Amino acid sequence: MNNILVTGGAGFIGSAFVRHMVVAYPDCNIICFDKLTYAGNLDNLLPVSDEENYRFERGDIADRRAVQRALDDYAIDAIVNFAAESHVDRSILDPDAFIHTDVVGVYILLDEGKKHGIERFCQVSTDEVYGDIHVGRSIEDDRFLPNSPYAASKAGGELMVRAYHVTYGMDTVVTRGSNTYGPYQYPEKLVPFFTTEAMDERMLPVYGDGKQIRDWLHVDDHARGVDRILRFGKPGEAYNLAGENQRLNIDVTRRILELLGKPQSLIRHVPDREGHDRRYAMTAEKARSLGWNRQFDFDQGLEATVRWYQENEWWWRKLKTGDYLEFYRQQYADRLESVS
Ligand code: NAD
Ligand code: TYD
Repeated sequence: MNNILVTGGAGFIGSAFVRHMVVAYPDCNIICFDKLTYAGNLDNLLPVSDEENYRFERGDIADRRAVQRALDDYAIDAIVNFAAESHVDRSILDPDAFIHTDVVGVYILLDEGKKHGIERFCQVSTDEVYGDIHVGRSIEDDRFLPNSPYAASKAGGELMVRAYHVTYGMDTVVTRGSNTYGPYQYPEKLVPFFTTEAMDERMLPVYGDGKQIRDWLHVDDHARGVDRILRFGKPGEAYNLAGENQRLNIDVTRRILELLGKPQSLIRHVPDREGHDRRYAMTAEKARSLGWNRQFDFDQGLEATVRWYQENEWWWRKLKTGDYLEFYRQQYADRLESVS
């Protein structure tokens, strides 16, 4: 695999993967293909923007012509698809874009990839396809029970990947990552949202009792996991990339406030997210069998992440303007008003 198309490579996890690959494989060309939605950000790629083996193309994965052109122009051997609408709350407000990118976009990428004869297609998926896990931990053969429009759209994309493998013999692999945190995450997700809000001493809207459980994975561990599965995963297989670090949301929130030296009184318990999954939990045994191990301890990783947002206001402050403020109003204004 010499020429790798990384779709959605300007987002949070995709950009960590691009930064990793450009440096780790100087003999490979890494082509980032991204629509640059509100979540795509070329600042995330500044650390590699001058590297000779890195290129950027703006385009939509659901645009057949644009995908075709990129595959031909760069003689692509492999596609790694990070491109997605990725925020559960936005999927509840309006699922439309989720179907466009996470379902139709994946189909177009597969179909053009097949015609072009690529060697491997790697789909980046999520633990949310398994749904709410009351007890135990999900393994790769467990059934899909997605509960949000986001999770359902990711499940739909994944099932199309499976169909292209079974029906057309395409060489595919799937990664299912758990909740990811780290630098360069758009400040709508829990860790960067609460960190940057708390820095400004604004209220932190914890949904419901805050006792939901998420399994946290550092973004650099996630990126290295995708690399490993891209290279060593068996065709047609899926692999959980689990942090195996389960935490209550309220504990993560309290810790962020402690790390920032801000008062716990900033916490507001607001009306819950609709259809909110109580717990995600997976086992990473299968990915470990390919030699992947997470390297970040959650407590140290969270501390370093909070410090990164403290030291990089240039990166996030300009994102919390314009359309972001409209999303904030829709998502939080009534919730916060109802409890104050
Ligand atoms: P993100 O929202 O930060 O980035 C998504 C990227 O995709 C952006 O750069 C955006 O511009 C691009 N994009 C969106 N629609 C596109 C389209 N139609 N064509 C081309 N590019 C498009 O997301 P993320 O958190 O980096 O997640 C990356 C992938 O990992 C997603 O597939 C997501 O489902 C999956 N995932 C995320 C997490 C997490 O905790 N963030 C956990 C597990 C899996
Ligand atoms: P999020 O970062 O949106 O990831 P996901 O929904 O994919 O797990 O949310 C992580 C957890 O934090 C989830 O249980 C919802 C909760 N949460 C809040 O309580 N308040 C918030 O404002 C946000 C964004 C999330």
